[in-house]
Parts: sequence; structure tokens; C-alpha cells
Amino acid sequence: MDIDEIISKMTQQEKCALLAGSDGWHTMGCERLGVPQIMMADGPHGLRKQTDGVDILGFNDSIPVTCFPTASAMACSFDERLLERIGQALGEECRAEGVSVLLGPGVNMKRSPLSGRNFEYFSEDPYLAGHLGAAHIRGVQSRGVGCALKHFAGNSQEKARMTSDSVIDDRALHEIYLRAFHIAVQESDPWAVMTAYNRLNGTYCSENRTLMTDILRDRWGWHGLTVTDWEALSSVYASLPAGLDLCMPGPRPDYAEAVDWAVRRKSITRYELDRAVRSILELTDKAQRGARIPYECDVDAHLALAQEAAERSAVLLKNDGILPLAPRESVAVIGAFAKEPRYQGAGSSRIVPKVLDNFWDAYLESHEGPIGYAPGYAAASGVATEAQLAEAEALARTHDVAIVFAGLPDTYESEGFDRRSMRMPANQVELIERVCEANPRTVVVLMGGAPFDLAWRHKPAAILLMYLSGCQGGHAAARLIDGAANPSGKLAETWPIERADTPTAGRYPDTRSEILYTESIFIGYRYYDAVGLPVAYPFGFGLSYTTFAYRDLRIKPLPGQESGCVSVSFTVENTGARDGREIVQLYVAPIDPGVYKAPQTLQRFANVAIPAGGAKRVTFELDRRAFAHYDAQLKGWCVEAGSYEIRVSASSRDVRLAQRIDVEGIAKHDDGAPIRYHHPVAGCFQLFDSTPRGKRARGALGDFEDLYGRPLPEMRPLRPFTIDSSVSDAMHTVYGKVLGGAVYRRMREMVGTDDENLQRAYAEMLSDMPIKSMHMQGFRMSSAGVVVDVLNRHYVRGLLRWKEAHDKKKRKN
Ligand code: BGC
Repeated sequence: MDIDEIISKMTQQEKCALLAGSDGWHTMGCERLGVPQIMMADGPHGLRKQTDGVDILGFNDSIPVTCFPTASAMACSFDERLLERIGQALGEECRAEGVSVLLGPGVNMKRSPLSGRNFEYFSEDPYLAGHLGAAHIRGVQSRGVGCALKHFAGNSQEKARMTSDSVIDDRALHEIYLRAFHIAVQESDPWAVMTAYNRLNGTYCSENRTLMTDILRDRWGWHGLTVTDWEALSSVYASLPAGLDLCMPGPRPDYAEAVDWAVRRKSITRYELDRAVRSILELTDKAQRGARIPYECDVDAHLALAQEAAERSAVLLKNDGILPLAPRESVAVIGAFAKEPRYQGAGSSRIVPKVLDNFWDAYLESHEGPIGYAPGYAAASGVATEAQLAEAEALARTHDVAIVFAGLPDTYESEGFDRRSMRMPANQVELIERVCEANPRTVVVLMGGAPFDLAWRHKPAAILLMYLSGCQGGHAAARLIDGAANPSGKLAETWPIERADTPTAGRYPDTRSEILYTESIFIGYRYYDAVGLPVAYPFGFGLSYTTFAYRDLRIKPLPGQESGCVSVSFTVENTGARDGREIVQLYVAPIDPGVYKAPQTLQRFANVAIPAGGAKRVTFELDRRAFAHYDAQLKGWCVEAGSYEIRVSASSRDVRLAQRIDVEGIAKHDDGAPIRYHHPVAGCFQLFDSTPRGKRARGALGDFEDLYGRPLPEMRPLRPFTIDSSVSDAMHTVYGKVLGGAVYRRMREMVGTDDENLQRAYAEMLSDMPIKSMHMQGFRMSSAGVVVDVLNRHYVRGLLRWKEAHDKKKRKN
């Protein structure tokens, strides 16, 4: 495709028309000049190609495909190669279905275990998330299909995700919330980046010049296409000049007209318009060239890969020696999830699996001893009757071993809303406790997309965490339990003891319009380590049926390179009797830093297969970035001179080898921010300012303002209503109530569930959507302006606007 020539031949109207989709999933193309439409579809754990209209919340079905484990599961493999292979398989399924861009992966940070969308994200650690995301993208793109890396950026809560403002200080932004995106962009060059719904430091991401132009393009040197999240276009005038290329979904004639008008008025330059058009044409060109790359789509091989991924993602949290089970033991299989597994998340990533297995059927085939089954609870709700509990107990008593399947039912977590508690269904807890009482040889197998309370964890003999393990999770669990496969996953996120321990306890999900990320860089293990809190299971933790010993650490400067560039090598030995894989982790721990830092951060990892009795030498190379922090005043990364401990660890709390090295750099200095975090109470960070301005303890918000380096944003006023106001903002007005009622009725039609909790959650989600996204709920786009006028009691203006839209429609017809 000769892009220059096409641009030179396009009329301004054709260019503007190209800026938005033609429908939910296709670009507009330009028939006159031979520019085809291309299709995008959701991932990231399987292809979600909808043939019947657009629906971003997963209510409608899509074509049947392979369902891989979710990102929260696959991250536990810490295995870039595995993620790359899964990416290849996804790319092949896209090719077979004519899909050119897969919408994913998401590399947002898990700021709280409660985020409804945590299952779709990799980790609380940006280094891990960035590298795994990059591997996934490399795999997909190797098959000639693009990825849209998402959701850029600071989208860590589902509550009011389309209007809330993530207020994040520059250090946390660069070290945590942008870091994974930066790594993924650098390491995999995604074809597209999808902007998040939310505002970031006051500006919607889809009109955020700092994000899209200054950082993504100018600083990171990336040249792909920026696309809005679906319905995230925040401004018809400001978005394109800020760096936005494509608005999805379409059609959006209003957008094309607005840009056309703005170009004529010269408030958007022709250069800016051509930049966006060029990006869209380049994406189309990549898709056309990609479609010529030879490929094969072997569904059986993909199912085998899905099973391998599920096995490699599972984390053995506890084992007193009961696992693997002996072949002839009699086993009581308890829990409805054994037959009706929880295997994927809900929302835009929900897919229709081509094949769906379950543990019971798989175990019937593979286990030699007798097995019995009791459901224990209802799969959909987790609720149990006394009869079900008693039946399960009795079954457990009469078998050598009991395996209880439990976890979060489908209705507990979804894109669109956050969990309000870390609890699993109370009846399931009772079930686990009663079965453990009845048979001390009890194994608990857990399913769910994110951490939950495991207050009962001391009772069973073993706990195997499957997360959401995709369409072959049943076979994977059966093979792990009987030892045909050896568990090797490790946690890519901390499992805290309880919600009160989490860094955002008491303020998550945040219901304010401005969400202050006062914990700054201290998320996940960075927080638990800084506070010194015990956790249920730490980041990086996981057991195996074999054991590993670490020895012979050697750290050597890399010849001819700067201070801090070192090679770190050590030997890992499989000291058990089974072949296995060990996930080795390298953390850097600054000793007595000048600016506040996390006690340690993950800087390298590897997944090493070692045969029983064998040993492998592992070598990592570190560069200066491994020691750097982001200096908000200098607006760049810098390394403080000083000592750093290099830790080679089996988990974040299991250091096996360590050595200090000195690294040259800038002198410890005052960067103007408070330099020490003090944490008198768990869950409540207070900053102490010990700069030369004098020592003073201040309220947490004052400290956060210092750290933020500018005045904190004012809370957004409710009135006057705008298209960015949500239905819930207007609920106290008469018309708002009427609108709320309409939205609620629409939700009931769309969701089609009788589950009251789920209905409440979806109703809340829909009422948190801004008025501008009303047509996602089945209303016409032109209605948004009318609704705003009516809410503001500008009845005449509203009437005129309605009439104008009405007349226009008539003219078109
Ligand atoms: C989600 C995106 C998704 C898009 C299209 C949005 O609601 O946030 O992740 O790709 O819908 O379905």
C-alpha cells in the first residue's frame, strides 16, 4: 500500500471518516482508494469474535475458540516462552477468523486484590507484567496479527472507571503504572495501544497529550496506532491533537464532522489529521502484509497448549506430603466446581470455549482408585444446603482422601465492578472446614481470578491454586494431583491475610471522582515488605514435588560497561527425586537509600527446567536501570551511589543467596519530596518530611500533595451536568431518576440473570457510566446532549437539539 499516495488522494471528508470504526469491530476503510476495512476483536485469553453486533461486556456470545488460562494464572508461570507460544496460537486463531488486531494484553497494575478485572492482568509488579505482556505480543504478532496493548494508563479500579481520575505522583507513575507499558512497547513493538477510560492526573487518557505524545511517542519512540477503549472518546476536539488516532467503536459521524469542522477552522491542523490517518493506514497495511504470512491453525495443538499452560500456571500453596496422591487411593471429590469449573473471567474477555473439560471427567479417566462425588454447594452462587454439607462430610469420611474444589463463583468478579470484600462464599468455607474435620487428608483446589481470604488455610493437608485455568484446567488439575505433572507456578501477586492489610484498605474501590494514589510506589509486595506485614502467601511463592538448592553466587562487572552493569550467576540444583521447574527471582535491595524506595524490587526472573538430581547454572545480566529510581524533579531515571544487595530468591520472602555491591551514581540527595515513609499503623502510610526544610509530620494528604508536587485536583463538581456526568451523578434529580430507571430496565434485558447481587453490580456499573456512553446501553448517541440539557433544565435547548437530530435523520433516510 502506497500510504503517501493514498493520503494525497483522499478528500478531507474521507480522512475524517477513517478516524472512527465502521461498526463495533471494524475500521472504516476507504473503498474508493482500495483501503480495506480490518477487524479487531477482544482477547486476551482467547479470541472473542462476535458475529452479531457489539457488546463489550460479554453478554452476547462469540464464535467457539480455545480458551487459555487468564493472565492472572499464566503470569504464575513466569515463563516468557510459554506466553509467546500462547500468543502464537491466539494469532493463528485470529488469522483463521480474519481478525487483524487482538485487543490485549492488559498490563495494568493490581493496586488492590479487589479489582474486578485483576484476572485479566498479570501482576502487581511492573517488571514481570511488562515482560510477560511483551512475550504475549511477540507471539501474536509473529503470526501477522497485531496487538492493542491496554489500558493506557492508571486504570486500576472498575468502579466509575469511565469518569474517575487516577491521581498518581510522577514517581509512582513512571516506576509502577507506566513501567509495564514501557517494557512491553520496547520489547515487542505492539501495533496499537489502547487508551484507558479513566482520567489520569486530571485529563482523560484518550485526550492526554502527556501520555500519548510526550511519553509514548516522543520519549519511548513508539510509532504505532493509538485507539480509544470502546466508547472512551472523551473530546471530539482535543483527542486527535493530543495524539489519538482511532476512535472505537463506530460509526461516529459526529466525530468525523467535528474533526472536519475543526480542521476547516484550523483548530486541528492538517498535519495532525494526516498523522492520525497515516497511523490508521499503516495499521491497515501491516494487517494486509500480515495476512500473507503462512500459518497453520491446529486446534488440537492449541488445546494441548492450553492444558500445558494450565499445568504450568498452577501454584501449589501448601503440601504436607499428601500430594501427589498414590494411584489407588480412594478419593472423595467434593465441590460443584469439580464438574462445573470456574475457568474464565467475565466481561469483554469472556469467550465461548470450543471444548470445555472438567476435573471430574478427567479424573475418572486417569485415576486408578475408586472415586465418589458430592457437589457440596451450587456452582453459580457457592451457596450450600445443610444436606449438601452433610453429604460431603459423609463422603469425605469414607474415602482415603478428600479433594474440595472451592473459590470465587462467576458472579463474584467481573470487568465493570470491583469486589467489596475478599471473602469467598461462607458456605464454601464451612464446607472446607467440615470436610477437613471429617478427613484430615484433605486437599483444597482453588479457582478464582484474584486473591481471597484463606483464613482456613492451616486446616487442609494441601492447597493447589488453579486460578482461572481455561478450557483444559480439569485435565491439568488431575495430572497435578496425581503427579503426572509437577507443579511449578509461583505467585505473581501477594495473597494478603485479609483485606485490612492491603495498601488501599478502607479506600478501595474509591467512590470519589478523584482517586488519590497516596500509597505511591508502595503497591503489592513493595508495600507488605515496607510495612513488614506477614502475608498468607508472598509474591513469588510456590511449592513443587521436588526441592531446589541454590549455590555458588558470583557477581562480576560486565567488561567495558558502566558501574552496576554486572553479570550475576549461580547454580540451582534439583535435590529431589522428580524432574521439575524452578522459578528463580533476582531482587535488588537498596541499602540505606537517600530517597524513599521499596525494600526490594524484582529485576530479573527465569523459569528453569532441571531434571531430578541435575543442576543448572543461571546467569542474569543487570544494567543500571535495575538500580534506578525515577526522579520527579529531574524528570528522568537516576541511580543513587551506594550499596545494593543482590538477592537471588525462591520467593520475595525466601532469599537463598545474597551479596552486596557498590554502584556509582549521583550523591544521595534531596529531591524535594518527603524522603522517608513511616508506617506507624499497618495500612496507613504517613510521610515524614526530613528535607532541609525541617522535620515535620504532616497529615497523609499534605504529604501526598508534597509528593504529587502540585496542588491536588479539586473534586469534580456535580453541576452543571455534562456528557461526562454519570447517571448516578444525576440520580438525585427527578429526570436522573427517570433515566436511572430506563438504564436499570435495559440492564435487566442485557444481563438476563436472576442473580440479585449480579443485577445490583451491573446496575451500579451502568449507572456509573458517563452519559456520553449511553449508546453502549442501546440508546442513540444524539440523545446524550439532549439528556444533559434536560438534566440542566435547559428544556428549550434540549428540544431544539432533539429536533435538529431528528430532522437530520429524516434527511438521511
Ligand atoms: C474493555 C476493553 C475491550 C473493549 C472492547 C472495553 O469495555 O475495557 O478491554 O477491549 O471493551 O470489548
